[in-house]
Order: sequence, then structure tokens, then C-alpha cells
Amino acid sequence: MRSSVARLIRSSSASPSRLSGNAFFGNATPSDQRHIEKPFKVKEAEPVNVTKPSPHKLLVLGGSGFVGSHVCKEALDKGLVVSSLNRSGKPSLNEPWADKVIWNQGNLLEPASLKDAMDNVSAVVSCVGGFGSNSFMYKINGTANINAIRAAAEKGVKRFVYVSAADFGLVNYLLQGYYEGKRASEAELLSKFTYGGAPKYKTFD
Ligand SMILES: NC(=O)c1ccc[n+]([C@@H]2O[C@H](COP(=O)([O-])OP(=O)(O)OC[C@H]3O[C@@H](n4cnc5c(N)ncnc54)[C@H](OP(=O)(O)O)[C@@H]3O)[C@@H](O)[C@H]2O)c1
Repeated sequence: MRSSVARLIRSSSASPSRLSGNAFFGNATPSDQRHIEKPFKVKEAEPVNVTKPSPHKLLVLGGSGFVGSHVCKEALDKGLVVSSLNRSGKPSLNEPWADKVIWNQGNLLEPASLKDAMDNVSAVVSCVGGFGSNSFMYKINGTANINAIRAAAEKGVKRFVYVSAADFGLVNYLLQGYYEGKRASEAELLSKFTYGGAPKYKTFD
């Protein structure tokens, strides 16, 4: 070992004073020791500007409605940036939470009107749905939400929560369009958001 290191040093073009063999074999001279024991010169770290991560932005579809307004309030309480999209925009509510929401006007049945509202959004909660004729119920609970799910997936939104409704035998038959619309949206959600989609079943109470 000793001879192979010595050969290595001899064959090196580096000057012997820089590649002293003493340091390898432990018989360093006092001057070598002084060199080794020299305290490290600690340089003061330069300050680094770390930008605070911006809070997540939640888009509530139908934030002015009965369920949507509660979702908005909860999300604001948790410190999220909250925006909403509904046809009439900001509701005429005299409540402090409503002033903290970014209100967008749009219609889920007109997909082009949704795209801008989905910019920089981390998650969407859809609270859009309703009752009427069977064809209307299918449209608002199904088609409208399918449009929103597709627009969110295209924009790369990570999570989508859809407020659906639990199924009750006879009522299910009477509200055929309503439940068929709900199931169609759930199927679309699970296909477009395999990991980040969540249908939530609200019961009427
Ligand atoms: N309330 C309950 O007890 C209950 C029970 C079970 C399930 N759910 C489900 O929960 C969801 C919300 O119910 P909710 O009672 O909160 O309804 P809601 O009070 O009637 O609210 C509906 C919201 O959707 C918006 N909206 C309606 N059509 C729209 C469209 N085409 N484009 C954009 N926004 C639209 C409305 O605002 P604009 O009119 O301004 O557009 C409103 O903000 C529904 O899917 C419902 O089926 C509710």
C-alpha cells in the first residue's frame, strides 16, 4: 500500500509540496498538523429570498346557492382563496364572507364561459344542480356538470368534488332525470379524475 501510494505520488505531475505523502501515513510534521488543524473559515450565508407559497385557490361552482354558500364560508375560514362561478355572479347578500369571494359569471351549459375561471385553480367543488322537467334535471345535474368536469380536467385541475345525491327507490323513479343526471356526472368524474375526483352524496334533510 505504502509503495503503491509513493509510486502514485512520484508519477504525478503535481508538486510534492502540495501532495505530501506524510498526510497519508500519519507521521505529519508539526507544520503539516498546523495546516490540518487550521479552523475552517465560515463564510456568512447569503440571504436567500424564498417566496411564500400562494394559498390554494378553490373554485366553487354555484357558490351563491344553499350548499355552495356553506362551502365558500368553510373554505374561507380555512384560509383558501375562494372564487365562485354561477350565472348571476355576486349575490345581493349583505354578509362579510360574500365580499371575500371572487365572483365570476358563467353558465355550466356554455363551456366556453368556464375556462377563465378555472385558471390557477387547485380544486373545484360543484354545487350546481336542480329540479324541473326530466330533461331539464338531466341537463343541469348531468350535462352541465359533465361540461365542468371536462373543462377542469383540460385545465389540469388536481381535484374535483361533485355534490351529488343519495338514491331513494321510489323518489328515484319520480325524479328520473335528476338521478340519471347525477349518475352520468359521477361516471364522468371517475373517468376524468381517477385519483382526485370525489362524488359527495348529500341527503335531503
Ligand atoms: N339542498 C339540499 O338539501 C340538497 C340535497 C341533496 C343534494 N343536493 C345537491 O346539492 C347541489 C346544490 O344544491 P342547492 O340546494 O345548494 O342548490 P341551489 O341553492 O339551487 O344552488 C344552485 C347554485 O347553482 C347555480 N347554478 C344553477 N344553474 C347554473 C348554471 N347553468 N351554471 C352555473 N351556475 C348555475 C346557482 O346560481 P345562479 O342561479 O346564479 O346560476 C346557485 O348558485 C345540487 O347538485 C343538489 O342536487 C342538495
